[in-house]
Amino acid sequence: MASRKKLIAGNWKMNKTSADAVALVQELVGAIGRQVDVDVVVCPPFTALEGVGKVLEGSSVKLGAQNMHFEANGAYTGEISAPMLRALFATHVILGHSERRAYFGETDALVNKKLLAALKNQLRPILCVGETLAEREAGTTLKVVQTQLEAGLDGVSKELASSIIVAYEPVWAIGTGKVATTEQAQEVHGFIRGLLTKLFGEALAMRVRILYGGSMKPANAPELLAQKDIDGGLIGGASLEARSFVDLVNAAAAK
Ligand code: PGA
Repeated sequence: MASRKKLIAGNWKMNKTSADAVALVQELVGAIGRQVDVDVVVCPPFTALEGVGKVLEGSSVKLGAQNMHFEANGAYTGEISAPMLRALFATHVILGHSERRAYFGETDALVNKKLLAALKNQLRPILCVGETLAEREAGTTLKVVQTQLEAGLDGVSKELASSIIVAYEPVWAIGTGKVATTEQAQEVHGFIRGLLTKLFGEALAMRVRILYGGSMKPANAPELLAQKDIDGGLIGGASLEARSFVDLVNAAAAK
């Protein structure tokens, strides 16, 4: 367990022009560009990937995208492919975020196609799963998470499974300031670890990072990160300012 290095990923969503993104990442590189105790990934919008990537050169901070198409190229107006992301030196990609599922109709089957394409192109997928408030209140949280996880990982070989990162993001906690309690979060994280064990065996499941996401802030991070199956955070709001993101990275480094 102790062998899993914590990972803090910033999901900037549809925020920051390329110039604003470069300014933010310059601050981040100044503060945590040599951080080796924690893996750090920033996921700016597509339009800022190239500029941010240039600033990250030579630093320990990695570049991620927020979405991608499953085909490598073709007549898919408005889409971006895995090889295009790789060409900009992206190493990670967020897939199946609840906003993509809710506003853009992404199904588990589509997320799975994207995930397989990401792995084929040596991009590390951050697969997001999580229940809505109605699902939690109906008592179906674990069932929802299980379906999303198993469908999302369908067809993934044991060899490739070690590159996967999972993010548990209760939809009701995203951007709402309502963070899951440590018990609620750990329960689901432990459940996900159990599912990964069934799918890929214990040794591999013990190596996969499971991030928590949903109103994670410097104030609540230490307690969340102290849970045995919480291996880091996928950070929205608090990743948009250098101070709070740096504090989160430092909180993870202290674990
Ligand atoms: P939040 O977003 O930190 O603003 O709640 C997290 C996410 O959606 O990844």
